[in-house]
Amino acid sequence: MTSAEEMLARFGSPVYVYRLEAAGRALADLRSSLPAPSTLYYSVKANPHPDLIRFFHDAGCGAEVSSAGELQSALTAGVAPRSCFYTGPAKTPAELLSAVASGVRRFSVESPADLRRVAGAASAHGAVVDAVLRVNAPGAGIATLRMTGAATQFGIDADELVATRLWQATEPGVRIVGAHLFAVSNVSDEQSLAASLAASITSAARLRAAGMPLSFVSLGGGFAAPYAVPGTRPAYQAIRPGLERALDAELDGWRQGNPEVAFESGRYLVADCGSLICTAMETKTVRESTFLLLDSGINHLGGMSGLGRLLRPSAVPLQDCASSSRATSSRANSSRAAPSAAATTITGPLCTPLDVLGRDARLAPVAPGAAVTFPNVGAYGLTASLLAFLSRPAPAEVVTNGAEIVSVSRIHLVRMAP
Ligand SMILES: Cc1ncc(COP(=O)(O)O)c(C=O)c1O
Repeated sequence: MTSAEEMLARFGSPVYVYRLEAAGRALADLRSSLPAPSTLYYSVKANPHPDLIRFFHDAGCGAEVSSAGELQSALTAGVAPRSCFYTGPAKTPAELLSAVASGVRRFSVESPADLRRVAGAASAHGAVVDAVLRVNAPGAGIATLRMTGAATQFGIDADELVATRLWQATEPGVRIVGAHLFAVSNVSDEQSLAASLAASITSAARLRAAGMPLSFVSLGGGFAAPYAVPGTRPAYQAIRPGLERALDAELDGWRQGNPEVAFESGRYLVADCGSLICTAMETKTVRESTFLLLDSGINHLGGMSGLGRLLRPSAVPLQDCASSSRATSSRANSSRAAPSAAATTITGPLCTPLDVLGRDARLAPVAPGAAVTFPNVGAYGLTASLLAFLSRPAPAEVVTNGAEIVSVSRIHLVRMAP
């Protein structure tokens, strides 16, 4: 593995690095936690880099996509349109038309109006597509990021669905095939995640008993990963047997693929394959507060957390994350080396006090020009950030596989005629 300094020297600063061997380990770990047989979709929103999409596709995953851009990335990566699951709460007629034209045949449907839009797009192309009804069903377990099981914009209320029997709606162009039950995100507590997924199984069984067609059910996901701080993914060692028992008890036929049981995962699969390496510009003290200024900020990482909306800005950078084991020891060293170091606010280059990547970090002194690395940022890193704000260039994105450099690319934002 190349050191952070070598990466900066070769590709400039800042630079994102994605390691395929780490993505492979995450995939193997997740698969061992899931019931078999089951389908796994890679959620492209976590990281739309085509090399990552291709990697998961080659390993047998489908692609869960939520926009024309994500679909394009998946198709470019070689994913067959029929292996795509198109999701999202406010899909426009234009994107639906182009998805159907591209050959996508499986859509999550979030409301009766969404069903009509999907049906309209399919009919316009003389196609019949599979509609998977997104259900806002009772939740279970503790989750900080709840999509359904609460009053959110997602899905159709389960009771209302049973009462209205939307699945009996006869819209030309759509065939209602099942339920989409993505309830939670980023649940590190295994018991909570198991409870949430079990509740999804129960909801699917209830809908099937009420007469809803159920040849496909996405039980969702919620598989967690650390974000921009050192740490490891949860192991989820006990989930699989419990889910298999629940499926045997409640969804007869799943072992024969009726229903086909699916899961979706973004962050678990790619978070720990990615690091952001940037450069310390200077450390300065203003009114007795210490700031470490970097050449990368919420324009490249944690844009949503920088706004204080989703994740707390709690990133702790490492000065060397050439491998996860070295990263751990480097962090341990820096905290050992600096028990009395000043609490430091880590900031980026943007002209806003919101450009904060970490607070109260206890760091060993960071010399100007030193490489600073944020681990666990392969998911919701670059493309979840405020990339266009202040018009700074995007970092290079380098994909590696062991010692091999697989690709080097950079996102360019260009203004074009509509
Ligand atoms: C429908 C759906 N599927 C999959 C995901 C991916 O979630 P995660 O990256 O936490 O696995 C999300 C996240 O918002 C989602 O809304």
